Amino acid sequence: MHGNDPGGNVTVNPPMCRACSWLIFVLVLSCVATGGHLATLDPERHREATGAHGAVATAHGLASEAALGVLKRGGNAMDAAVAASFVISVVRPQSTGIGGGGFLLWHDAKTGNVEALDFRERAPAAATRGMFATADSMNGHLAVGTPGLVAGLYEAHKRHGSLPWATLVEPAIKIADDGFAAYPGLAEASKERAEILARYPASAALFLPNGKPLAAGDVVRQPDLAWTLRQIATRGAEGFYGGPVRDRLLAEIKRGGGIIAAADLDGYRVKERTPVSGLYHGYRVVSMPPPSSGGALVVQMLNMLAHDDFPAMGFQTVRPLHLIAETMRRAFADRAQWLGDPDFIAVPLRGLLSLNYAAERRRSIDMARATPSSAVLAGDPASVRESASTTHLSVVDAAGNAVATTQTVNFTFGSCVVAAGTGIVLNDEMDDFATKPGEPNAFGLVGAEANAVAPLKTMLSSMSPTIVFGKDGKLLLALGSPGGPRIISAVFQTILNALAYEMPLAAAVAAPRIHHQWLPDSLRVERGTLSADVLSGLRARGHTLLEAGPIGDVQAIRRAPGSAVLEAVSDTRSEGEARAF
Ligand code: DON
Repeated sequence: MHGNDPGGNVTVNPPMCRACSWLIFVLVLSCVATGGHLATLDPERHREATGAHGAVATAHGLASEAALGVLKRGGNAMDAAVAASFVISVVRPQSTGIGGGGFLLWHDAKTGNVEALDFRERAPAAATRGMFATADSMNGHLAVGTPGLVAGLYEAHKRHGSLPWATLVEPAIKIADDGFAAYPGLAEASKERAEILARYPASAALFLPNGKPLAAGDVVRQPDLAWTLRQIATRGAEGFYGGPVRDRLLAEIKRGGGIIAAADLDGYRVKERTPVSGLYHGYRVVSMPPPSSGGALVVQMLNMLAHDDFPAMGFQTVRPLHLIAETMRRAFADRAQWLGDPDFIAVPLRGLLSLNYAAERRRSIDMARATPSSAVLAGDPASVRESASTTHLSVVDAAGNAVATTQTVNFTFGSCVVAAGTGIVLNDEMDDFATKPGEPNAFGLVGAEANAVAPLKTMLSSMSPTIVFGKDGKLLLALGSPGGPRIISAVFQTILNALAYEMPLAAAVAAPRIHHQWLPDSLRVERGTLSADVLSGLRARGHTLLEAGPIGDVQAIRRAPGSAVLEAVSDTRSEGEARAF
């Protein structure tokens, strides 16, 4: 645990008045109860953890600790995932939060079933197809989709949780009240978005203390958010969608000229979806269906590569990298054309997931030459921006139940609007629609009709919480990642490394990644990870390389086949930590 925090180290200098020592006693007690707030991250971060009774991997040590505490108290994977989700909302406000949304897969060890919950944001009823022709879809009040996170966690807990709801919100409340130490990633995020955050007093008060971006080590306290979380702890989802939180949310939207109305909050429903699945080398891969594109693309790409012998091609040599890039290019071309909210458009899912279609797509790959994206499907190239947002967490309990959930406010700090008096960072998920057909969004993605804005429609996502079953039919892997479209590539390559190359989980997660999303027509590689020979080999095959920062931040758990041992791995690319016992 992070014991080296300033709040935990209260030194008492006698003589001291009774009241003062009592105050300090209470302070120390509350520090102990939170499991160590005001935490600076342990310099020796636990990236890997092994145990037979439960395992967790999240993007922040405090969230992993909260989940571990719940598992140790006898909570199941869902209880732990709910507690971790609320904590991560508090400590990664740049990535996710109760003003956002997400997807969750639940695997029930008893029935063997996998359930997919969609609690993503929805377009407000007043949204119109052309609304972003002139308006900003990334910053400010119009960018906000109706939030779904609290409804989703509440529903997930109602279905599968075992411990009382309020106890699971408690760790997050304490950290919001008492504060935590800003870490470099959070400091950078507040710097990146400073100009936009500065427009909104409630946002600036939290993330631009004294008018300046956060610095690593600054204590971030969020008393308004603690107040909001208390409403949620006592009243469940109604504490967010009803009562004073709802009033303050609607007041904020009105003040900023947004379009979310009371009816949008009243009408918000979590949707159960049927997961997509495929078989790869005898492993069953189960993932998030539309309105995510992630699961469909992961399965489609694995299908395309079903007959390629990766170990024989070598690891991260030119041949397999070229093949992977060409596979991605084709899958992302399909994404742009075909994928959107299945409640609004007909997604040709059966075709996209069929083995015949995959074989046909595979045949179109020239192993000697990159196919220009313009020859795969027409479009305009665009640049890809970096982002620090979105988060994934995985939990597996002793019974073998698993949760894989990816949650987001979309871009860094979402819309940058904090609803005054609530501490809630509002998302900018509307940017995930094809807001201006043919023009790239924040992630350089272009989209078509299938993902056009419409009232109450869900914007297309790349989030890919995924669960893989071993040849014995038992849970093998639970994983996911942030990274916009790069989520899909990160999850796909981690699975390929684990299944095709049979790599240990830590190595499968750590291995360098590449990413191609059809448009822009460039192959992104993680800077400094591939040798000059491999890079020039890829260029010689016709790839335009873009050397850039990390691709994804995978949080994964593996169950050793034929044993009860769980291994949790948190990607070294970001601030995450793993725990197990
Ligand atoms: O749902 C999606 O695909 C995006 N809103 C996810 C954004 C994201 O992962 C940002 N992370 N870098």
